[in-house]
Amino acid sequence: MLRLAVLVSGGGTNLQAIIDQIRQGGITNAEIAAVISNNRGAYALERARENGIPGLCVSPKDYETREAFNQALLEAVRSVNPDLVVLAGCLVVIPKIMVDAYPNRIINIHPALIPSFCGTGYYGLKVHEAVLKRGVKVTGATVHFVDDGTDTGPILLQKAVEVREGDTPKVLQQRVMEEAEWKILPKAIDLIANGRVQIRDGIVHIV
Ligand code: GRF
Repeated sequence: MLRLAVLVSGGGTNLQAIIDQIRQGGITNAEIAAVISNNRGAYALERARENGIPGLCVSPKDYETREAFNQALLEAVRSVNPDLVVLAGCLVVIPKIMVDAYPNRIINIHPALIPSFCGTGYYGLKVHEAVLKRGVKVTGATVHFVDDGTDTGPILLQKAVEVREGDTPKVLQQRVMEEAEWKILPKAIDLIANGRVQIRDGIVHIV
């Protein structure tokens, strides 16, 4: 049984997709050991509570320095003894000490087709604003392993989504979540939980 630590910051719709797919059998051999948020007010923590999943908050506001927060976050993750750390709408920059502690055992959902519209400054609605500003006709979402860069780790799954005439950033974000994020993040977890993912020379192979 793959133990998941799911890190969140906001509404938790990606967390909800994981919860729903575990319940409906779309994800097998996995369980959410805990939800960990950097934001005390994150609705994602309410979703955890509603589903009987332990929720923890490690807020940067409670620590004097970034280093102290990073250490506390790592200790909170370690405390639940996860096999896989899932960044689900998590806006925290994952510190090197955590990447080193969980090599190729942290995955992230990014709301664009990496290597487009990613890296520092590209998160949440900003991604979709940039997509519309550039005028691309296709966008989507990516699940990737986290390394010590920003959105630079090996790509596990991607799903394309059409950009439509008249889209606003909010409308596009919702379509990318519904048609891509909420599908490929659970799928990625199921593949890992069932031993179907191999990484060779930085390239992910689904076996
Ligand atoms: C989504 O756009 C997700 O791609 C990004 O954060 C936003 C909200 O995610 N990482 P959630 O509803 O908190 O899962």
